[in-house]
Amino acid sequence: MMHKYHVHALWFVITLFLVVHQLFSPTVAALEVDYYRLTCPMAEKIVRRTVTRAVDRDRGLAPALIRMHFHDCFVRGCDASILLDPTATNRTEKLSPANTPSLRGYEVVDEAKARLESHCPQTVSCADIIAFAARDSACLAGGPEYAVPAGRRDGAVSRESEVLPNLPLPNSTLDQLIQIFSSKGLAVEHLVALSGAHSVGVSHCSSFAHRLYGFNATHAQDPALDRSFASLLKANCPPSSGTDTARTDPTVPLDSKASDRLDVRYYMNLMAGRGLLGSDQALVSGPVTAALVAVHAAEPWRWKEEFAAAMVRMGSIEVLTGEEGEVRKDCRAVNG
Ligand code: HEM
Ligand SMILES: *[C@@H]1O[C@H](CO)[C@@H](O)[C@H](O)[C@H]1NC(C)=O
Ligand SMILES: *[C@@H]1O[C@H](CO)[C@@H](O)[C@H](O)[C@H]1NC(C)=O
Ligand SMILES: *[C@@H]1O[C@H](CO)[C@@H](O)[C@H](O)[C@H]1NC(C)=O
Repeated sequence: MMHKYHVHALWFVITLFLVVHQLFSPTVAALEVDYYRLTCPMAEKIVRRTVTRAVDRDRGLAPALIRMHFHDCFVRGCDASILLDPTATNRTEKLSPANTPSLRGYEVVDEAKARLESHCPQTVSCADIIAFAARDSACLAGGPEYAVPAGRRDGAVSRESEVLPNLPLPNSTLDQLIQIFSSKGLAVEHLVALSGAHSVGVSHCSSFAHRLYGFNATHAQDPALDRSFASLLKANCPPSSGTDTARTDPTVPLDSKASDRLDVRYYMNLMAGRGLLGSDQALVSGPVTAALVAVHAAEPWRWKEEFAAAMVRMGSIEVLTGEEGEVRKDCRAVNG
């Protein structure tokens, strides 16, 4: 017979295990792959077709939609708060300098939503459309194909003031990056895997000009930046870069080899001092993340798997499910 004390101890251990398990397991349990199989079987196909057509028209929309998912999920969770248009009384997330003028792709979501509303009215949430569109974009850009757990509901609140405090900055240090990802329940591994998204798309000069001109009291430019790469960037980004007009704030590809493909070239660039943003280059400034960078650079197929898993994980941040929130009729406004 087990002693009473041992039984208590056993239950204590089991309870502790369950609590710890709850704390650290991914919060995707509430979301479900093939969520619309009964209510709107064509949902994911409709989004895929819309995104494919848009990307055929403008390849830059693939990176734009991947970034939209990131900016949605990090600010108030993946609840499509990024899509709400400002009103007379509300300055919404869109207006933040982190999103205007650089975030694009809203029209693609509108187009997918319009098609979905005619097929299955008020069934597919805008938050799920963003998650599907980001996956489709990643796939179209040569990245992994993966299943997206869905069932997110749309939020009713969107505040410009919540954007900057919740997103990493292009000049964030490694510690700051790790801290902000951890505050969203994402590990160092997720940070490094997801940063590979910067193998596609562009950045405005203003996001990294501080690395080129007057870096700090002892260095005119960031010493972590490869010198020939720095010269190339200076040629494209005159010292006046930094104001918000296209004329004085040009864009350059995030991946200096301009491969336009979602791949591990990004990690090779970092190892060669050719990361564009300070936050990119910061990944090789610490031993743990630098080791992960080297592994990704060497094992493209494994990075694809980790990127997909990290996207799913990011897509589960603070989601609204069940009866929470609503399914918007128009992604730009809460239901009246
Ligand atoms: C790790 C911290 C991150 C920082 C500091 C950061 C910052 C930035 C900045 C400053 C830009 C350029 C904006 C501009 O000047 O036009 C950018 C672009 C981009 N970011 Fe990030 N980002 C981070 C993580 C991520 C993640 C996790 C993803 C998605 C998984 C992502 C996807 C993208 C994409 C695809 C672009 C290109 C957008 C386009 O071409 O329209 N980023 N990011
Ligand atoms: C707009 O502001 C009002 C209060 O001024 C608030 O009740 C409402 O939730 C806000 N809407 C959004 C979309 O944030
Ligand atoms: C990054 O730049 C902002 C201004 O854009 C500044 O307030 C902040 O201190 C900088 N952070 C670091 C780590 O240099
Ligand atoms: C300038 O930046 C370099 C490289 O990040 C750093 O080692 C150095 O301490 C900085 N100098 C000052 C004065 O902040």
